[in-house]
Amino acid sequence: PIIYAITPTYSRPVQKAELTRLANTLRQVARLHWILVEDSAVVTELVSRFAAGLNRGGGPPCTHLHVLTPRRYKRPGQPRATEQRNAGLAWIRQRYQHAKAPQPGVLFFADDDNTYSLELFQEMRTTRKVSVWPVGLVGGRRYERPVVEKGKVVGWYTGWRAGRPFAIDMAGFAVSLQVILSNPKAVFRRHGSQPGMQESDFLRQITTMEELEPKASNCTKVLVWHTRTEKVNLANEPKYHMDSVRIEV
Ligand code: UGA
Ligand code: MN
Repeated sequence: PIIYAITPTYSRPVQKAELTRLANTLRQVARLHWILVEDSAVVTELVSRFAAGLNRGGGPPCTHLHVLTPRRYKRPGQPRATEQRNAGLAWIRQRYQHAKAPQPGVLFFADDDNTYSLELFQEMRTTRKVSVWPVGLVGGRRYERPVVEKGKVVGWYTGWRAGRPFAIDMAGFAVSLQVILSNPKAVFRRHGSQPGMQESDFLRQITTMEELEPKASNCTKVLVWHTRTEKVNLANEPKYHMDSVRIEV
């Protein structure tokens, strides 16, 4: 099966560094298609050049989309990247709209700042419906993970909002293409989505806890980390005497 990775991304000083690091991971994964969705009203030059560079060779093959998050949603407490992930979902659904037989494929939401082991992609590739695994460095703990008994997910090891129906980060699950296509209305929603509820709200539209497929040795291995990049210090940027050449960073 092909893997589709949907990555929301937005302009900031570390953006190109994040995308470069992620591309260096994804280009090592066979049969992977990267859907890079900019949070922007127009595609930016930086990301367009970057995507074109990948598609010129070296990969991963990359589809570049954009959709702007409405300004009223750009504030603390609001979920991030809802519109961008939905744009990725819509692109996939459109791509397969005339497909006759069910297509083998797996979809995964890959934020631009996390750290992904290559093993993770081997694990998710065998997803039949929805698979799950631990995520490191998240929820105020060293890791969160689905609790597995007799090969089935029965609960969640987490220290944050333990009442979430699916107490899992965006980086902790993958969905088969078949599930995405047979639930055409399943999308990320903003209204009523409290912090940390986007994943649960999406997953409850397409699956149940009983149905989840535990990966990574019954959810005992951390293969992805919810790393976050520190804000860069630009305190010494010049106010005048700018550099004489224009440098893309
Ligand atoms: C956590 C989860 O890991 C995210 O999957 C979830 O979207 C997010 O919380 C949330 O609050 O909704 P966190 O590390 O806090 O993640 O969020 P970011 O990594 O800053 O953002 C998640 C993704 O959205 C990234 O790929 C980022 O580039 C993108 N993003 C962020 C935008 O496209 N626009 C923004 O304004 C902010
Ligand atoms: Mn993040």
